Amino acid sequence: MTVDITTAGAALLVYQYAAHEVSMRSTLLLPLSLAACMNAGMDGKDTASGVDDSGGPDDTGDTGDSATPEVCGYTPMPDLDAAPDVVEVDLTASALEWDPGTGVPLAAGMAFNGSVPGPVLEAKLGDTVKVHFTNDLDIEMTIHWHGLRVTPEMDGIMQMMGDPIEPGESFEYEFPVVDTGFYWFHTHMDTATTIEAGLYAPILFHAPDEVAPDCDQPMVLDDLLLDEDTRQIAPPDTDMMQLMGRLGNVLMVNGRSDRSYAWTKGQTTLWRVVNASNARYWDLYLEGHQLTVVGTDGGFLAVPYSVDDLVVAPGERYMVVVEASGEPGERYRLMNKRFQLHEEGGDMVEGDPMGDGDNPVATVVYGEGETTGTGWTQPAPDVPGWGAPVENLGHHWLLEEDMMGGTVTIDGATWPDVPMVDVAMNVDTMFEVENASEMHHPFHIHGNRFQVVDVGGEPVPAGQGWKDTFDIPPRTTVTVVSALDNPGEWMYHCHILEHADDGMAGLMTVEE
Ligand code: C2O
Ligand code: CU
Ligand code: CU
Repeated sequence: MTVDITTAGAALLVYQYAAHEVSMRSTLLLPLSLAACMNAGMDGKDTASGVDDSGGPDDTGDTGDSATPEVCGYTPMPDLDAAPDVVEVDLTASALEWDPGTGVPLAAGMAFNGSVPGPVLEAKLGDTVKVHFTNDLDIEMTIHWHGLRVTPEMDGIMQMMGDPIEPGESFEYEFPVVDTGFYWFHTHMDTATTIEAGLYAPILFHAPDEVAPDCDQPMVLDDLLLDEDTRQIAPPDTDMMQLMGRLGNVLMVNGRSDRSYAWTKGQTTLWRVVNASNARYWDLYLEGHQLTVVGTDGGFLAVPYSVDDLVVAPGERYMVVVEASGEPGERYRLMNKRFQLHEEGGDMVEGDPMGDGDNPVATVVYGEGETTGTGWTQPAPDVPGWGAPVENLGHHWLLEEDMMGGTVTIDGATWPDVPMVDVAMNVDTMFEVENASEMHHPFHIHGNRFQVVDVGGEPVPAGQGWKDTFDIPPRTTVTVVSALDNPGEWMYHCHILEHADDGMAGLMTVEE
């Protein structure tokens, strides 16, 4: 589906995945409801806004009026090395009873350096990053630097397969910064439990000439499935839930269901969005504001584009500029729309514990005064240079549901039996991912970066940015291209964590 919009006088072709047509259709109603919002003075709870939030649980996800709005920003991990081109940090994973905003701390909670999400790993292009990691938990683990082109030894997977970090043990991760933009790190063993418990954190790698916007805000999205009575993480559930993907009943931005952010009219706001949810695809909009996508998984875009709402699959990132056009005293809700993981009319009827309506997930509150802006301009994009269409097929993956086995297979098998994929380094190579199942799968490939060139037979216009995680809609084939500049043995898998843990994963060797 192709939509014409006009931004700053220039007509841009905005590509929407075919499977998002449903969501696009319903957003056609947005301009009207937004107008109603404005007239109603943007009271976060005003039902005159036309937004149906009746479907969600009434005591979670509602951002309320109580919290004092936080100032925009983030906490980087302290750099322990004085050298300007070395970033050296201490990182510890330990048990932590943290409050997701329900007022009841999670007994099974875990955290990096005592916070959820963990503090931001921040560096700039060309730096060397050294992470002194300590496992203070009673489970084995490895850390994966999602999206970064590190070496296989540092990627967490060889460790996972060979020598995981035992309870009480330490490990030194070290890698050069060759990528800029927004990434994240997380544990890579028993992920449906450990990422759910809180072991995830943002990575922000800057370009050397980058000028900070007024507001640079990581927005880590996550949902939790809590027991209705105890408000504790619900224990691992049925095989069916594993297969369908575990949707939660609490929606969090940066580890809380009740965040509110203080904004000033006119400020330049850059949201760096990552979806850390086990299975939930988020579909976000900010009442009264337009979102302009300026970057994706692997850095900034050559051609930014505007959207009414932003779909973010598990593992994916988007960098979004929001024009702060509100007036002092106004408040606007960041809303999440229902995203159906399964195709409609299929064998599976999917229920969402958040209901079918839109749910508020955070609030933006305008303070007094006005900001004229720092004149932020986005850093230069890292554009791929394929002169000619790429026809060299590296592999055609087939994703299929195995209802009897209660799992999703890749090429007819599950980890570790999925046949190895072998490809050559430094050759422009095309990969097809055919999804024969009736649900979406966010497909993630470690170690290299990719451009999506075709979704279900619809060519994707150039300039859509580097991806390491991409949605494969139900019964659709997605084609991606890579120059494969990072050799080694790399894992690829579905980023629905229940699927990954159940073996929807394989290995690819990029040979030197
Ligand atoms: Cu974010 Cu192998 O994963
Ligand atoms: Cu990864
Ligand atoms: Cu999957």
